[in-house]
Amino acid sequence: MNTKTSKGLFLTFEGIDGSGKSTQCKLLAEALRAEGRDVVLTREPGGSPGAEEIRKLVLEGDPDRWSAATELLLFTAARRDHLERTIEPALAAGKVVICDRFADSSRMYQGLSRGNLRAEVDQLHALMIAREPDLTLLIDMDPETGLSRAKGRQGTEERFEDFGLELQQKMRAGFLALADEFADRFRVIDGARSVEAVAGDVLARAQDALA
Ligand code: ADP
Ligand code: TYD
Repeated sequence: MNTKTSKGLFLTFEGIDGSGKSTQCKLLAEALRAEGRDVVLTREPGGSPGAEEIRKLVLEGDPDRWSAATELLLFTAARRDHLERTIEPALAAGKVVICDRFADSSRMYQGLSRGNLRAEVDQLHALMIAREPDLTLLIDMDPETGLSRAKGRQGTEERFEDFGLELQQKMRAGFLALADEFADRFRVIDGARSVEAVAGDVLARAQDALA
């Protein structure tokens, strides 16, 4: 067993709404479990009982319910709880943690689109989180397709999707810039293909990281 596996592997998915992250997280978890790996599949905001409660506060209700700064504090509080109670214990036990969104989403949504708070995002991250994934898979695709896929879903968590296409375009460019900024851990995956084709690339990248 190599060092990375014995210490666990922290793998995150990022991308605009509707890009296929949740679909690919589940498929990757199934594929790695079929190889006999111990996998924890989790998500943000959420992933621990307290963070799931905060999820309701940030994702439901009026789009103007919180300022960008307040929202950043709520997302960071949720992330800290998730890290302490779910992610760190699983990694310490040598598991693979697959997380649907993590701090890169705060860098994008609170740092770039909702508010111009990237400096605050980075400061809070350094102070309260101080952990980056081993591997981040960015599912990249054109926002029109992503938004129509996201709108096709039923549900009450529409607060962010209500921001519309312009935000998603800014997000796509922002995520690609972030992939350059953190080139050592980011891999960009073309999401505008069949579920199976995307899943094949995702598994190959994960296996590279585990090898
Ligand atoms: P995200 O978690 O990034 O918002 P989802 O995985 O929930 O995205 O996918 C959004 C919607 O698009 C879902 O209805 C899902 O079934 C569908 N979907 C996911 N991947 C693909 C794909 N490669 N091609 C077509 N539809 C897809
Ligand atoms: P998610 O449930 O992953 O939505 P989707 O499946 O549509 O991609 O995340 C909900 C929203 O929360 C999403 O629009 C991005 C936003 N978000 C932030 O603004 N900051 C964050 O730190 C995180 C983790 C998510």
